[in-house]
Amino acid sequence: MSVLKTTGLGKVYGSTKNVLYTALKDVDIEVEKGEFVGVMGPSGSGKTTLLNILATIDKPSSGKLEINGIDPTVLNDHKLALFRRRELGFVFQDFNLLDALSVKENIILPLVMEGMKPKKIEERLKPIVEMLQIEQLLNKRTYEISGGQKQRTAIARAIIHEPSLLLADELTGNLDSKSAKDVMDTLKKMNEELGATILMVTHDPFSASYCQRIIFIKDGQPFTQINRGSSRQVFFQQILDVQSMLGGDFDDLSFPRA
Ligand SMILES: Nc1ncnc2c1ncn2[C@@H]1O[C@H](COP(=O)(O)OP(=O)(O)OP(=O)(O)O)[C@@H](O)[C@H]1O
Ligand SMILES: [Mg+2]
Repeated sequence: MSVLKTTGLGKVYGSTKNVLYTALKDVDIEVEKGEFVGVMGPSGSGKTTLLNILATIDKPSSGKLEINGIDPTVLNDHKLALFRRRELGFVFQDFNLLDALSVKENIILPLVMEGMKPKKIEERLKPIVEMLQIEQLLNKRTYEISGGQKQRTAIARAIIHEPSLLLADELTGNLDSKSAKDVMDTLKKMNEELGATILMVTHDPFSASYCQRIIFIKDGQPFTQINRGSSRQVFFQQILDVQSMLGGDFDDLSFPRA
């Protein structure tokens, strides 16, 4: 079953001088339930544009979008808000945690908003925080924990309502290499042990090597995709090869990490 399907998706931006800019063109992407997919591409290739459309923050100019069988572009504001809350989970580069709340309060916020009973919330919370190894931090404030711990808290919050699709945008962008590895290890666990379906945009070949499949986009269009075999090491090298073939500005993160 496909959780995400785009057909001929396009995005055209207008400008003040009435010059139109095509940021996405004819994008056909399908993500099956339980997949862990990466999206990579040079700077300006349309990754954020694509993610914003999938996140229902922005609307496509053409084509069709389906998430879990629903076309979110036809929903009214109220239904769209519900759809976003139920079907989607988000993890961002800058964590987006609420400083006024504890780690636990941040994580359970989506369930509290749904009106879930406290006992059921505790039942949901326990296995997730154990898996993410943040059970010791639950009563801490967000300013008392490290970047990697913050991102694992953000993952817990994004996953606790069991969304159909988890969307991540450069989630290791603000982390040192050790924390980035911890975060990617736990994201992989969410995929393998909880069956979370994940779509992740990243510049970083090391983080990307955790995905099962990577879709490369260039000039707003899918260019090629590669599948991971049994070795992450080999996949990492393949990612670097496609990047050098694509050219463009992949920024300066393109080196192996320990
Ligand atoms: N609101 C906007 N109005 C006009 N043009 C835009 C807008 N947002 C993005 N663009 C243009 O669309 C193209 C794709 O931008 P996008 O942000 O999706 O790229 P990206 O792949 O995420 O790049 P990066 O790797 O640098 O984050 C760029 O040329 C950008 O200038
Ligand atoms: Mg971007």
